[in-house]
Amino acid sequence: MKKMNIAIDGPASAGKSTIAKKVAEKLGYIYLDTGAMYRTLTYAALSTGGDLQDEEALHKLLQGIRITFSTAENEMQRVFLNDEDVTESIRSDEVTQNVSLVSSFAKVREEMVARQKSIAQSGGVVMDGRDIGTVVLPDAEVKIFMTATAEERALRRYKENVAKGMTTSLEELTEDMKRRDHLDSTRTISPLKKADDAIVLDSTHLEIDEVVKRILGIIEANL
Ligand code: C5P
Repeated sequence: MKKMNIAIDGPASAGKSTIAKKVAEKLGYIYLDTGAMYRTLTYAALSTGGDLQDEEALHKLLQGIRITFSTAENEMQRVFLNDEDVTESIRSDEVTQNVSLVSSFAKVREEMVARQKSIAQSGGVVMDGRDIGTVVLPDAEVKIFMTATAEERALRRYKENVAKGMTTSLEELTEDMKRRDHLDSTRTISPLKKADDAIVLDSTHLEIDEVVKRILGIIEANL
């Protein structure tokens, strides 16, 4: 049976990555976290002292780096910048605060989108991000747009941070969430937007497993 591609878009902390990962596991598909790719480039630029406003320099930097993911089953997926494991570093506050700027440049997006399309060319990929259903995989067989209120999403991020020993306040996280939503959905190139044919899932009051179940049901209906 031909393997499908599944696009999952939505704002920060709507639960996309946790859910996309579970859906991919159930189907035996590859999971691709496109946000991690933009974060890795942002981390690379910050750690080499690059100018984050310089589109050309960011594009050149991106062309010179490999961004890869570990694929070991039942383990947390790890992210690599060349040979460096950056799984934790790309979640820092500094990266989070700068990633929307880095990802707003056309040349950066063109290169990222080309890499993402090539990974999905044989099908069997669950990809999450902001522009997957609209730009990266407009022909994806199943498109989901996940939402949740900014307050609920900030609370989820807050709980994750506390578990990791991070201390940013809930108020700051809520503000950051709204700021990133605004930047991501108002940028000129590939803004965060629901594809016309995407199915909206509001996860505010739903458990993760319930959302996964609903998505698997939608996929089954498309087989
Ligand atoms: O998904 P995550 O919150 O890790 O993404 C980090 C940032 O990367 C987003 O806020 C957005 O600015 C950018 N991004 C993007 N396009 C994607 C995925 C992420 O612009 N497909």
